[in-house]
Amino acid sequence: MTTADFDYVREYVRVQAAIVLEPGKEYLVESRLHTLARHEKFASPDELVAQLRAKPQSDLHRKVVDAMTTNETSFFRDIHPFEALKKGLLPEIIKRNAESRQLNFWCGAASTGQESYSVMMTLAEHFPELLSWNFKYIATELCQDAMARAKAGRYSQLEVNRGLPATLLVKYFARQGAEWEFREDLRKRVDFREMNLIKEWVWMPPLDIVFLRNVLIYFDIETKKTILGKVRKLLRPGGYLVLGGAETTLNLDDGFERVAFDKTACYRVKQSSGKADQ
Ligand SMILES: C[S@@+](CC[C@H](N)C(=O)[O-])C[C@H]1O[C@@H](n2cnc3c(N)ncnc32)[C@H](O)[C@@H]1O
Repeated sequence: MTTADFDYVREYVRVQAAIVLEPGKEYLVESRLHTLARHEKFASPDELVAQLRAKPQSDLHRKVVDAMTTNETSFFRDIHPFEALKKGLLPEIIKRNAESRQLNFWCGAASTGQESYSVMMTLAEHFPELLSWNFKYIATELCQDAMARAKAGRYSQLEVNRGLPATLLVKYFARQGAEWEFREDLRKRVDFREMNLIKEWVWMPPLDIVFLRNVLIYFDIETKKTILGKVRKLLRPGGYLVLGGAETTLNLDDGFERVAFDKTACYRVKQSSGKADQ
């Protein structure tokens, strides 16, 4: 692929999704474009890029952005945040919201859904009473293919082998041919919506817990700051932000404080900062 084509694609993806593809990622871009070119019946990635240039803002552009997203995820990924959820976050929030019986949860980079369904299994296993609360779970994602898979809640044997204990597989999934389908009653509780974190956000209620894991790593510093600022304003006092293992609010948004939970840390809006209202 020529440098000019690589630059065209990476600039488009940066503007549309804030995903930074540094020089040196030519191979990654080319191999993903290769798959897309074949799928869209172009003779080569070069021909696909030529079509992009000839017709700006086509459906093909959208597919290129989707193809450049990394949808890597698994059930109970990195386990510690789920332990923190079970032992710290949820017991605290259940106590605090006991009167209103309200819990609002947002997962901001849902990918193919394993993370959200891991949360739903945690709830159903350890806090089933929450399911009769006024409980809202919004899961958003940019990539349309990933979101369609998330909504369907169907996973291959290989996918359920990654992180899902056998006891939970048997309890919460039904075999459908070669795949495993997540239990419909819990699947329906997750409100999947398409959303680009750098464009207009869907309406969200004041949030108790935000899972925004393993997505800020793709963005530049200014984008991370803007997104964290928006999350801060959506969190209820005492609400928690959970980031990926390689992510932090440190040096990006000093309106958050780090709260340690055993082998992980979550983030809460500092009450003294006054930033919650800014
Ligand atoms: C590596 S996955 C993380 C999935 C899950 N949160 C986890 O930790 O396992 C990152 C996800 O972020 C999504 N993403 C990337 N850029 C985005 C953007 N600008 N807006 C919304 N989602 C985005 C990708 O499509 C991808 O599904």
